[in-house]
Amino acid sequence: MEDNKKKYLIITYGCQMNIHDSELLAGMLEEMEYHQTAEIEEADLILINTCIIRENAELKFFGKVGSLKALKEKKAGLIIGVGGCMMQSDQAVKELYQKYPQVDLIFGTHNIHHLPDLIKRIEQERGRIVEVWKQEEGLIPDLPAKRENISQAWVSIIQGCNNFCSYCIVPYVRGRERSRPVAGIMQEVNKLVADGVKEITLLGQNVNSYGQDLGDEVDFADLLQKLDKVDGLARIRYMTSHPRDFSQKLIDTIRKSEKVCEHFHLPIQSGSNHILTKMKRGYTREKYLDLIKRIRETVPDASITTDFIVGFPGEREEDFIATMDLVNQVQFDLAFTFIYSPRTGTPAAGMANQLEPEVKKERLNRLMKTQNLISLEKNKKLINSIVEVLVEGESKNNRMMYSGRDRKNKLVIFPKKDNAKGALVRVKINRVQSFTLFGEIIEASFNKKLVVETG
Ligand code: SAH
Ligand code: SF4
Ligand code: F3S
Repeated sequence: MEDNKKKYLIITYGCQMNIHDSELLAGMLEEMEYHQTAEIEEADLILINTCIIRENAELKFFGKVGSLKALKEKKAGLIIGVGGCMMQSDQAVKELYQKYPQVDLIFGTHNIHHLPDLIKRIEQERGRIVEVWKQEEGLIPDLPAKRENISQAWVSIIQGCNNFCSYCIVPYVRGRERSRPVAGIMQEVNKLVADGVKEITLLGQNVNSYGQDLGDEVDFADLLQKLDKVDGLARIRYMTSHPRDFSQKLIDTIRKSEKVCEHFHLPIQSGSNHILTKMKRGYTREKYLDLIKRIRETVPDASITTDFIVGFPGEREEDFIATMDLVNQVQFDLAFTFIYSPRTGTPAAGMANQLEPEVKKERLNRLMKTQNLISLEKNKKLINSIVEVLVEGESKNNRMMYSGRDRKNKLVIFPKKDNAKGALVRVKINRVQSFTLFGEIIEASFNKKLVVETG
Protein backbone atom coordinates (compact mmCIF):
# COMPACT_ATOMS: atom_id res chain seq x y z
CA MET A 1 0.00 0.00 0.00
CA GLU A 2 1.33 3.36 -1.03
CA ASP A 3 0.29 5.06 2.18
CA ASN A 4 2.40 2.75 4.31
CA LYS A 5 5.49 3.70 2.39
CA LYS A 6 7.88 6.14 3.92
CA LYS A 7 7.78 9.56 2.34
CA TYR A 8 10.58 11.88 1.25
CA LEU A 9 10.91 15.47 0.16
CA ILE A 10 13.97 17.10 -1.42
CA ILE A 11 14.69 20.83 -1.28
CA THR A 12 17.15 21.97 -3.95
CA TYR A 13 19.21 25.15 -4.20
CA GLY A 14 21.61 26.16 -6.96
CA CYS A 15 22.11 25.37 -10.62
CA GLN A 16 20.92 22.67 -13.04
CA MET A 17 23.72 20.41 -11.84
CA ASN A 18 22.09 20.35 -8.42
CA ILE A 19 18.60 19.99 -9.83
CA HIS A 20 19.80 16.95 -11.74
CA ASP A 21 21.63 15.54 -8.70
CA SER A 22 18.35 15.84 -6.79
CA GLU A 23 16.68 13.75 -9.50
CA LEU A 24 19.34 11.11 -8.91
CA LEU A 25 18.86 11.27 -5.14
CA ALA A 26 15.12 10.88 -5.69
CA GLY A 27 15.74 7.95 -8.05
CA MET A 28 17.73 6.13 -5.37
CA LEU A 29 15.09 6.80 -2.72
CA GLU A 30 12.34 5.47 -5.01
CA GLU A 31 14.36 2.25 -5.38
CA MET A 32 14.46 2.07 -1.58
CA GLU A 33 10.67 2.14 -1.62
CA TYR A 34 10.41 5.69 -0.42
CA HIS A 35 7.57 7.66 -1.90
CA GLN A 36 7.65 11.35 -2.84
CA THR A 37 5.50 13.90 -1.03
CA ALA A 38 4.98 17.62 -1.56
CA GLU A 39 3.89 18.17 2.06
CA ILE A 40 6.84 18.73 4.35
CA GLU A 41 4.84 17.71 7.46
CA GLU A 42 4.22 14.30 5.89
CA ALA A 43 7.86 13.56 5.15
CA ASP A 44 9.82 10.87 7.01
CA LEU A 45 12.98 11.99 5.23
CA ILE A 46 13.90 15.54 4.20
CA LEU A 47 16.99 16.11 2.07
CA ILE A 48 18.42 19.53 1.30
CA ASN A 49 20.75 19.87 -1.68
CA THR A 50 22.86 22.97 -1.08
CA CYS A 51 24.69 25.57 -3.17
CA ILE A 52 27.64 27.76 -2.17
CA ILE A 53 28.10 29.92 -5.29
CA ARG A 54 27.14 33.19 -3.56
CA GLU A 55 26.58 34.20 0.04
CA ASN A 56 22.82 34.55 -0.33
CA ALA A 57 22.59 30.86 -1.35
CA GLU A 58 24.15 30.01 2.03
CA LEU A 59 21.91 32.38 3.97
CA LYS A 60 18.78 30.92 2.40
CA PHE A 61 19.89 27.43 3.32
CA PHE A 62 20.65 28.22 6.96
CA GLY A 63 17.26 29.91 7.25
CA LYS A 64 15.57 26.81 5.89
CA VAL A 65 17.42 24.26 8.00
CA GLY A 66 16.76 26.39 11.10
CA SER A 67 13.05 26.29 10.36
CA LEU A 68 13.09 22.47 10.34
CA LYS A 69 13.97 22.27 14.03
CA ALA A 70 10.36 22.48 15.20
CA LEU A 71 9.33 19.77 12.75
CA LYS A 72 12.06 17.46 13.98
CA GLU A 73 10.97 17.95 17.59
CA LYS A 74 7.37 17.17 16.69
CA LYS A 75 8.00 14.08 14.63
CA ALA A 76 9.89 11.14 16.11
CA GLY A 77 11.93 9.30 13.51
CA LEU A 78 12.14 12.16 10.99
CA ILE A 79 15.49 12.02 9.20
CA ILE A 80 17.04 15.25 7.93
CA GLY A 81 19.96 14.99 5.50
CA VAL A 82 22.02 17.73 3.88
CA GLY A 83 24.18 17.31 0.77
CA GLY A 84 25.49 19.32 -2.14
CA CYS A 85 28.20 21.86 -2.88
CA MET A 86 28.15 23.68 0.44
CA MET A 87 28.90 20.44 2.28
CA GLN A 88 32.32 20.31 0.58
CA SER A 89 33.31 23.23 2.80
CA ASP A 90 34.74 22.18 6.20
CA GLN A 91 33.62 25.42 7.73
CA ALA A 92 30.00 24.97 6.63
CA VAL A 93 29.93 21.33 7.82
CA LYS A 94 31.36 22.32 11.19
CA GLU A 95 28.77 25.04 11.68
CA LEU A 96 25.93 22.80 10.57
CA TYR A 97 27.01 19.89 12.76
CA GLN A 98 27.54 21.97 15.87
CA LYS A 99 24.65 24.39 15.70
CA TYR A 100 21.95 22.33 14.02
CA PRO A 101 21.44 19.07 15.94
CA GLN A 102 18.29 18.44 13.90
CA VAL A 103 20.52 17.39 10.99
CA ASP A 104 21.17 13.62 11.01
CA LEU A 105 23.17 13.22 7.82
CA ILE A 106 25.75 15.31 5.99
CA PHE A 107 27.13 14.14 2.63
CA GLY A 108 29.02 15.79 -0.22
CA THR A 109 28.95 16.08 -4.01
CA HIS A 110 31.30 13.16 -4.66
CA ASN A 111 29.40 10.43 -2.79
CA ILE A 112 25.75 10.95 -3.70
CA HIS A 113 25.64 7.31 -4.84
CA HIS A 114 26.18 6.25 -1.21
CA LEU A 115 22.88 7.76 -0.13
CA PRO A 116 21.00 4.44 0.24
CA ASP A 117 23.70 3.03 2.55
CA LEU A 118 23.85 6.19 4.59
CA ILE A 119 20.08 6.29 5.05
CA LYS A 120 19.98 2.62 6.04
CA ARG A 121 22.69 3.18 8.62
CA ILE A 122 20.78 6.06 10.15
CA GLU A 123 17.53 4.09 10.16
CA GLN A 124 19.25 1.27 12.04
CA GLU A 125 21.62 3.11 14.35
CA ARG A 126 19.83 6.42 14.83
CA GLY A 127 23.15 8.27 15.12
CA ARG A 128 24.44 11.25 13.17
CA ILE A 129 26.65 10.65 10.13
CA VAL A 130 29.03 12.97 8.31
CA GLU A 131 30.45 11.48 5.10
CA VAL A 132 32.08 14.01 2.81
CA TRP A 133 34.84 12.98 0.41
CA LYS A 134 37.51 15.59 -0.10
CA GLN A 135 38.11 14.45 -3.66
CA GLU A 136 36.25 12.80 -6.46
CA GLU A 137 36.92 9.15 -7.23
CA GLY A 138 36.44 9.11 -10.98
CA LEU A 139 32.99 9.60 -12.40
CA ILE A 140 29.99 9.29 -10.15
CA PRO A 141 28.41 6.04 -11.40
CA ASP A 142 25.28 6.20 -13.58
CA LEU A 143 22.21 6.33 -11.37
CA PRO A 144 18.50 6.12 -12.11
CA ALA A 145 16.89 9.57 -12.23
CA LYS A 146 13.37 10.36 -11.11
CA ARG A 147 12.38 13.05 -13.57
CA GLU A 148 9.70 15.65 -12.89
CA ASN A 149 9.17 16.42 -16.53
CA ILE A 150 7.87 13.94 -19.08
CA SER A 151 9.30 15.51 -22.20
CA GLN A 152 12.57 17.08 -21.02
CA ALA A 153 15.64 15.63 -19.38
CA TRP A 154 19.06 16.65 -18.10
CA VAL A 155 21.99 14.55 -19.25
CA SER A 156 25.31 14.96 -17.49
CA ILE A 157 28.23 14.81 -19.94
CA ILE A 158 31.12 16.20 -17.91
CA GLN A 159 31.53 16.58 -14.16
CA GLY A 160 33.79 19.08 -12.38
CA CYS A 161 35.68 22.13 -13.59
CA ASN A 162 39.37 22.85 -14.20
CA ASN A 163 39.10 26.55 -14.90
CA PHE A 164 39.53 28.12 -11.49
CA CYS A 165 38.12 31.52 -12.41
CA SER A 166 39.41 33.62 -9.52
CA TYR A 167 35.99 34.35 -7.98
CA CYS A 168 34.48 30.89 -8.31
CA ILE A 169 34.08 28.14 -5.71
CA VAL A 170 32.84 25.46 -8.14
CA PRO A 171 36.21 23.79 -8.92
CA TYR A 172 36.79 23.35 -5.18
CA VAL A 173 33.44 21.70 -4.52
CA ARG A 174 32.92 19.71 -7.72
CA GLY A 175 36.44 18.42 -8.37
CA ARG A 176 38.35 18.09 -11.64
CA GLU A 177 36.86 17.60 -15.09
CA ARG A 178 35.75 14.07 -15.90
CA SER A 179 33.93 13.33 -19.16
CA ARG A 180 31.39 10.57 -19.46
CA PRO A 181 32.17 8.13 -22.25
CA VAL A 182 30.12 8.64 -25.43
CA ALA A 183 28.56 5.16 -25.30
CA GLY A 184 26.97 5.76 -21.90
CA ILE A 185 25.58 9.13 -22.98
CA MET A 186 24.13 7.70 -26.21
CA GLN A 187 22.58 4.82 -24.33
CA GLU A 188 20.97 7.16 -21.81
CA VAL A 189 19.64 9.50 -24.50
CA ASN A 190 18.19 6.65 -26.54
CA LYS A 191 16.42 5.36 -23.48
CA LEU A 192 15.07 8.82 -22.64
CA VAL A 193 13.71 9.22 -26.15
CA ALA A 194 12.08 5.80 -25.95
CA ASP A 195 10.41 7.05 -22.75
CA GLY A 196 8.99 10.07 -24.60
CA VAL A 197 11.63 12.74 -23.99
CA LYS A 198 11.78 15.36 -26.75
CA GLU A 199 14.38 17.75 -25.38
CA ILE A 200 17.66 17.05 -23.64
CA THR A 201 19.99 19.50 -21.94
CA LEU A 202 23.60 18.38 -21.78
CA LEU A 203 25.13 19.40 -18.48
CA GLY A 204 28.62 20.41 -17.46
CA GLN A 205 30.37 23.43 -15.94
CA ASN A 206 32.22 23.78 -19.21
CA VAL A 207 30.75 21.47 -21.84
CA ASN A 208 33.36 22.68 -24.35
CA SER A 209 36.01 20.72 -22.46
CA TYR A 210 34.07 17.54 -23.16
CA GLY A 211 36.22 14.62 -24.27
CA GLN A 212 39.63 16.10 -23.54
CA ASP A 213 40.25 13.56 -20.81
CA LEU A 214 38.78 10.57 -22.66
CA GLY A 215 41.71 9.94 -24.96
CA ASP A 216 39.56 8.77 -27.88
CA GLU A 217 39.61 11.92 -29.97
CA VAL A 218 36.06 13.03 -29.45
CA ASP A 219 35.11 16.60 -28.64
CA PHE A 220 31.89 18.41 -27.79
CA ALA A 221 31.07 19.16 -31.44
CA ASP A 222 31.46 15.44 -32.30
CA LEU A 223 29.13 14.52 -29.46
CA LEU A 224 26.50 17.00 -30.71
CA GLN A 225 26.79 15.53 -34.19
CA LYS A 226 26.11 12.04 -32.88
CA LEU A 227 23.17 13.18 -30.76
CA ASP A 228 21.69 15.12 -33.66
CA LYS A 229 21.07 11.76 -35.38
CA VAL A 230 18.96 10.31 -32.58
CA ASP A 231 15.53 9.65 -34.08
CA GLY A 232 12.60 10.99 -32.12
CA LEU A 233 14.61 13.61 -30.29
CA ALA A 234 13.49 17.16 -31.17
CA ARG A 235 15.81 19.51 -29.31
CA ILE A 236 19.31 19.53 -27.87
CA ARG A 237 20.48 22.19 -25.42
CA TYR A 238 23.67 22.40 -23.39
CA MET A 239 25.01 24.37 -20.47
CA THR A 240 27.34 25.95 -19.71
CA SER A 241 29.79 26.73 -22.46
CA HIS A 242 32.85 28.85 -21.78
CA PRO A 243 33.46 31.62 -24.36
CA ARG A 244 37.19 30.86 -24.35
CA ASP A 245 36.69 27.36 -25.75
CA PHE A 246 33.84 27.96 -28.17
CA SER A 247 35.43 26.77 -31.41
CA GLN A 248 34.50 27.58 -35.01
CA LYS A 249 33.97 23.83 -35.48
CA LEU A 250 31.34 23.99 -32.76
CA ILE A 251 29.57 26.98 -34.34
CA ASP A 252 29.55 25.22 -37.73
CA THR A 253 28.29 22.00 -36.17
CA ILE A 254 25.42 23.81 -34.50
CA ARG A 255 24.49 25.55 -37.74
CA LYS A 256 24.39 22.27 -39.63
CA SER A 257 22.52 20.41 -36.95
CA GLU A 258 18.77 20.05 -36.95
CA LYS A 259 18.18 19.60 -33.24
CA VAL A 260 20.69 21.80 -31.46
CA CYS A 261 18.77 24.94 -30.49
CA GLU A 262 19.79 28.35 -31.81
CA HIS A 263 20.51 29.60 -28.32
CA PHE A 264 24.00 30.51 -27.14
CA HIS A 265 24.52 31.13 -23.44
CA LEU A 266 27.99 32.62 -23.21
CA PRO A 267 28.78 34.08 -19.79
CA ILE A 268 31.08 37.08 -20.27
CA GLN A 269 31.14 38.29 -16.62
CA SER A 270 32.67 41.71 -17.46
CA GLY A 271 33.26 43.95 -20.47
CA SER A 272 36.59 45.24 -19.13
CA ASN A 273 39.86 43.54 -20.02
CA HIS A 274 41.38 44.72 -16.75
CA ILE A 275 38.69 42.82 -14.82
CA LEU A 276 38.60 39.81 -17.18
CA THR A 277 42.31 39.31 -16.57
CA LYS A 278 41.86 39.48 -12.82
CA MET A 279 38.98 37.01 -13.12
CA LYS A 280 41.25 34.61 -15.07
CA ARG A 281 38.60 34.12 -17.75
CA GLY A 282 41.11 33.50 -20.51
CA TYR A 283 39.57 35.80 -23.17
CA THR A 284 39.47 39.50 -23.89
CA ARG A 285 36.54 41.74 -24.68
CA GLU A 286 37.71 41.80 -28.31
CA LYS A 287 37.84 38.01 -28.54
CA TYR A 288 34.38 37.74 -27.08
CA LEU A 289 32.98 40.31 -29.51
CA ASP A 290 34.60 38.45 -32.39
CA LEU A 291 32.99 35.21 -31.21
CA ILE A 292 29.56 36.88 -31.11
CA LYS A 293 30.13 38.26 -34.61
CA ARG A 294 31.05 34.83 -35.97
CA ILE A 295 28.05 33.21 -34.29
CA ARG A 296 25.70 35.80 -35.78
CA GLU A 297 27.25 35.44 -39.22
CA THR A 298 26.89 31.66 -39.13
CA VAL A 299 23.58 31.30 -37.28
CA PRO A 300 21.70 34.49 -38.21
CA ASP A 301 18.70 33.91 -36.00
CA ALA A 302 20.69 33.01 -32.88
CA SER A 303 19.62 34.21 -29.46
CA ILE A 304 22.52 35.12 -27.22
CA THR A 305 22.39 35.30 -23.44
CA THR A 306 25.06 35.87 -20.81
CA ASP A 307 26.02 36.22 -17.14
CA PHE A 308 27.62 39.28 -15.52
CA ILE A 309 29.31 39.78 -12.20
CA VAL A 310 29.33 43.39 -11.06
CA GLY A 311 31.50 44.80 -8.30
CA PHE A 312 34.46 42.45 -8.70
CA PRO A 313 37.40 43.60 -6.49
CA GLY A 314 39.12 46.61 -8.07
CA GLU A 315 36.28 47.29 -10.55
CA ARG A 316 36.56 51.01 -11.36
CA GLU A 317 33.76 53.11 -12.79
CA GLU A 318 35.56 52.97 -16.14
CA ASP A 319 35.55 49.15 -16.01
CA PHE A 320 31.85 49.18 -15.33
CA ILE A 321 31.28 51.64 -18.19
CA ALA A 322 33.10 49.17 -20.44
CA THR A 323 30.57 46.53 -19.36
CA MET A 324 27.65 48.87 -20.07
CA ASP A 325 29.13 49.71 -23.43
CA LEU A 326 29.47 46.02 -24.30
CA VAL A 327 25.85 45.40 -23.32
CA ASN A 328 24.71 48.12 -25.68
CA GLN A 329 26.94 46.81 -28.41
CA VAL A 330 26.06 43.11 -28.23
CA GLN A 331 22.31 43.47 -27.55
CA PHE A 332 21.90 40.25 -25.57
CA ASP A 333 18.51 38.60 -25.51
CA LEU A 334 18.85 38.16 -21.77
CA ALA A 335 21.50 38.51 -19.08
CA PHE A 336 21.76 37.08 -15.58
CA THR A 337 23.40 39.71 -13.40
CA PHE A 338 25.06 38.95 -10.08
CA ILE A 339 26.67 41.06 -7.40
CA TYR A 340 30.17 39.78 -6.70
CA SER A 341 30.16 37.65 -3.56
CA PRO A 342 33.53 36.82 -1.95
CA ARG A 343 33.94 33.05 -1.51
CA THR A 344 36.37 31.88 1.16
CA GLY A 345 39.30 30.02 -0.37
CA THR A 346 39.11 31.66 -3.81
CA PRO A 347 41.87 34.11 -4.90
CA ALA A 348 39.44 37.00 -5.51
CA ALA A 349 38.21 36.91 -1.91
CA GLY A 350 41.72 37.93 -0.79
CA MET A 351 42.19 40.67 -3.41
CA ALA A 352 42.57 44.32 -2.41
CA ASN A 353 39.92 46.93 -3.21
CA GLN A 354 36.78 45.01 -2.35
CA LEU A 355 33.90 47.33 -3.22
CA GLU A 356 31.28 48.75 -0.89
CA PRO A 357 27.85 47.08 -1.10
CA GLU A 358 26.21 50.37 -2.13
CA VAL A 359 28.52 50.74 -5.13
CA LYS A 360 27.85 47.15 -6.21
CA LYS A 361 24.10 47.56 -5.87
CA GLU A 362 24.01 50.83 -7.77
CA ARG A 363 25.97 49.28 -10.64
CA LEU A 364 23.78 46.20 -10.67
CA ASN A 365 20.69 48.38 -10.95
CA ARG A 366 22.13 50.41 -13.80
CA LEU A 367 23.10 47.26 -15.68
CA MET A 368 19.78 45.53 -15.14
CA LYS A 369 17.81 48.57 -16.23
CA THR A 370 19.73 48.86 -19.49
CA GLN A 371 19.61 45.14 -20.24
CA ASN A 372 15.90 44.80 -19.44
CA LEU A 373 15.10 47.50 -21.97
CA ILE A 374 17.21 45.71 -24.58
CA SER A 375 15.48 42.40 -23.80
CA LEU A 376 12.11 44.09 -24.16
CA GLU A 377 13.02 45.68 -27.50
CA LYS A 378 14.28 42.31 -28.79
CA ASN A 379 11.11 40.58 -27.69
CA LYS A 380 8.90 43.24 -29.27
CA LYS A 381 10.23 42.15 -32.64
CA LEU A 382 8.65 38.75 -32.00
CA ILE A 383 5.09 40.08 -31.77
CA ASN A 384 2.95 38.36 -34.43
CA SER A 385 5.58 35.72 -35.09
CA ILE A 386 5.00 32.02 -34.57
CA VAL A 387 7.34 30.09 -32.31
CA GLU A 388 7.74 26.41 -31.56
CA VAL A 389 7.15 25.74 -27.88
CA LEU A 390 7.72 22.60 -25.85
CA VAL A 391 4.93 22.76 -23.29
CA GLU A 392 6.27 22.27 -19.78
CA GLY A 393 3.04 22.53 -17.78
CA GLU A 394 1.04 25.01 -15.77
CA SER A 395 2.49 28.49 -15.53
CA LYS A 396 3.81 29.28 -12.06
CA ASN A 397 1.86 32.52 -11.77
CA ASN A 398 -1.41 31.59 -13.43
CA ARG A 399 -3.01 28.15 -13.25
CA MET A 400 -5.19 28.85 -16.26
CA MET A 401 -2.11 29.08 -18.44
CA TYR A 402 0.60 26.78 -19.71
CA SER A 403 4.22 27.73 -20.06
CA GLY A 404 7.11 26.43 -22.09
CA ARG A 405 10.20 27.54 -23.97
CA ASP A 406 10.86 28.22 -27.61
CA ARG A 407 14.03 27.08 -29.33
CA LYS A 408 15.74 30.32 -28.33
CA ASN A 409 14.98 29.47 -24.71
CA LYS A 410 12.45 32.26 -24.30
CA LEU A 411 9.70 31.65 -21.77
CA VAL A 412 6.30 31.57 -23.51
CA ILE A 413 2.93 31.69 -21.72
CA PHE A 414 -0.42 30.86 -23.34
CA PRO A 415 -3.92 29.60 -22.44
CA LYS A 416 -4.20 25.88 -21.71
CA LYS A 417 -5.28 23.46 -24.37
CA ASP A 418 -6.11 19.76 -23.98
CA ASN A 419 -3.30 17.27 -24.57
CA ALA A 420 -0.75 20.02 -25.01
CA LYS A 421 1.36 19.23 -21.94
CA GLY A 422 4.66 17.73 -23.01
CA ALA A 423 3.98 18.42 -26.68
CA LEU A 424 5.60 20.66 -29.25
CA VAL A 425 3.10 23.29 -30.30
CA ARG A 426 3.04 26.41 -32.42
CA VAL A 427 2.28 29.59 -30.53
CA LYS A 428 1.50 32.95 -32.06
CA ILE A 429 2.96 35.76 -29.95
CA ASN A 430 0.70 38.71 -29.20
CA ARG A 431 2.29 40.44 -26.19
CA VAL A 432 5.77 40.57 -24.67
CA GLN A 433 7.70 41.59 -21.57
CA SER A 434 11.46 41.63 -20.92
CA PHE A 435 11.55 37.99 -19.79
CA THR A 436 8.34 36.56 -21.20
CA LEU A 437 6.38 36.15 -24.43
CA PHE A 438 2.59 35.73 -24.34
CA GLY A 439 0.51 34.15 -27.07
CA GLU A 440 -1.95 31.49 -28.17
CA ILE A 441 -1.56 27.99 -29.50
CA ILE A 442 -2.43 28.02 -33.17
CA GLU A 443 -1.47 24.46 -33.92
CA ALA A 444 -0.87 21.57 -31.63
CA SER A 445 1.13 19.34 -33.90
CA PHE A 446 2.25 16.58 -31.64
CA ASN A 447 5.55 14.91 -32.31
CA LYS A 448 6.06 16.14 -35.84
CA LYS A 449 8.90 18.37 -36.85
CA LEU A 450 7.92 21.99 -36.96
CA VAL A 451 9.06 24.80 -39.14
CA VAL A 452 9.29 28.09 -37.30
CA GLU A 453 8.21 31.24 -39.07
CA THR A 454 9.08 34.72 -38.03
CA GLY A 455 7.78 38.14 -38.96
N1 SAH B 1 30.40 27.23 -15.33
C1 SAH B 1 29.65 28.38 -15.64
C2 SAH B 1 29.18 29.19 -14.45
C3 SAH B 1 28.59 28.53 -13.27
S1 SAH B 1 28.21 29.63 -11.98
C4 SAH B 1 30.51 29.29 -16.49
O1 SAH B 1 31.71 29.36 -16.34
O2 SAH B 1 29.93 30.01 -17.26
C5 SAH B 1 26.98 30.66 -12.75
C6 SAH B 1 27.29 32.12 -12.67
O3 SAH B 1 27.39 32.53 -11.32
C7 SAH B 1 28.61 32.54 -13.27
O4 SAH B 1 28.56 32.67 -14.65
C8 SAH B 1 28.86 33.87 -12.59
O5 SAH B 1 28.27 34.92 -13.32
C9 SAH B 1 28.16 33.71 -11.26
N2 SAH B 1 29.12 33.59 -10.15
C10 SAH B 1 30.02 32.62 -9.93
N3 SAH B 1 30.74 32.89 -8.82
C11 SAH B 1 30.28 34.06 -8.33
C12 SAH B 1 30.63 34.88 -7.21
N4 SAH B 1 31.60 34.55 -6.38
N5 SAH B 1 29.93 36.03 -7.02
C13 SAH B 1 28.94 36.39 -7.87
N6 SAH B 1 28.58 35.66 -8.93
C14 SAH B 1 29.24 34.52 -9.16
FE1 SF4 C 1 33.34 28.63 -12.09
FE2 SF4 C 1 34.81 29.45 -14.09
FE3 SF4 C 1 34.44 26.84 -13.72
FE4 SF4 C 1 32.43 28.37 -14.54
S1 SF4 C 1 34.33 27.95 -15.66
S2 SF4 C 1 32.36 26.84 -12.94
S3 SF4 C 1 32.82 30.29 -13.49
S4 SF4 C 1 35.55 28.23 -12.37
FE1 F3S D 1 25.76 24.74 -8.92
FE2 F3S D 1 25.81 26.15 -6.71
FE3 F3S D 1 27.14 23.92 -6.86
S1 F3S D 1 25.74 26.94 -8.73
S2 F3S D 1 27.68 23.61 -8.99
S3 F3S D 1 24.95 24.16 -6.98
S4 F3S D 1 27.85 25.78 -5.93
